[in-house]
Amino acid sequence: MNDQVTREETVEILRLAEQALPVAGDFVELGCYRGDTSVLLGQLLREYNSLSAISSKGIATVSPVGNPDFTCGKSVEKSAISCGKAVENNHKTCGNLVDKSVHKSVQNSSLETNQTSQPGLKQPKKLWIYDSFAGLPEKTREDASGAGANFQAGELLVTKREVVDKIRKHGLKNVIIKKAWFDDLNDKDLPARIAFAFCDGDLYGSIKTSLRLVYPRLAEQGIIIVHDYNNPELPGSARAVDEFLRARPEFKLQVRRTLAILTKR
Ligand SMILES: C[S@@+](CC[C@H](N)C(=O)[O-])C[C@H]1O[C@@H](n2cnc3c(N)ncnc32)[C@H](O)[C@@H]1O
Repeated sequence: MNDQVTREETVEILRLAEQALPVAGDFVELGCYRGDTSVLLGQLLREYNSLSAISSKGIATVSPVGNPDFTCGKSVEKSAISCGKAVENNHKTCGNLVDKSVHKSVQNSSLETNQTSQPGLKQPKKLWIYDSFAGLPEKTREDASGAGANFQAGELLVTKREVVDKIRKHGLKNVIIKKAWFDDLNDKDLPARIAFAFCDGDLYGSIKTSLRLVYPRLAEQGIIIVHDYNNPELPGSARAVDEFLRARPEFKLQVRRTLAILTKR
């Protein structure tokens, strides 16, 4: 059971992640905690990679670069709803369900935008996940809230071992797990290009740093999601997003539940 992201938010995150599948680059999650959302994203990419491998061998057709058509949104929604349930049930059925929704994305994906040095061969997409595995850092004054005194330094501590074991248990080989404070991450710790970023570090400084790291690597048509945008307990998240948007007018903001969805205009 994921106590950090609601089922409805999980549905939305997976829907947008699916939308980002045809975009060049890898997926990242900054603030993975127990790895519950990570498993779902990793499963999505695993299915996508295996179908892409088949399609690049010529078994399925791949359409030219273009605006992805998301007619499978409905099936994703169904998949994601079941995935949400699956999170509670240790993801038992999620792999199957993600599978269907990935089919369409493979067909919509572009060989051109996702090329390796060998023309026609696609780079398997990876999921890079990050956490201090020491819990939250200290709040700053931007995080001050009258809505509660939760989210103190050291809260939400899980060990890296716990997440490594979970990822392994699900047989996911496409996930890179990094233990670090976001501020300490270097170029080599991040993918060169990011198609999809889920920023879930709760606090002002953590979200600000996440956006600073993701922004220069974000692919055209890439998607950034920031959690807790309108969560009164965590006002720092919205502050960091709003500051980012003021400095980057090329981005537009959509808010769904507590998710801020940032895409280039
Ligand atoms: C809300 S939890 C993430 C939940 C997870 N995304 C999910 O969907 O289950 C926030 C996580 O971010 C991590 N975190 C917050 N700020 C961080 C920072 N500056 N550096 C590293 N990790 C950080 C915390 O340790 C915590 O595990």
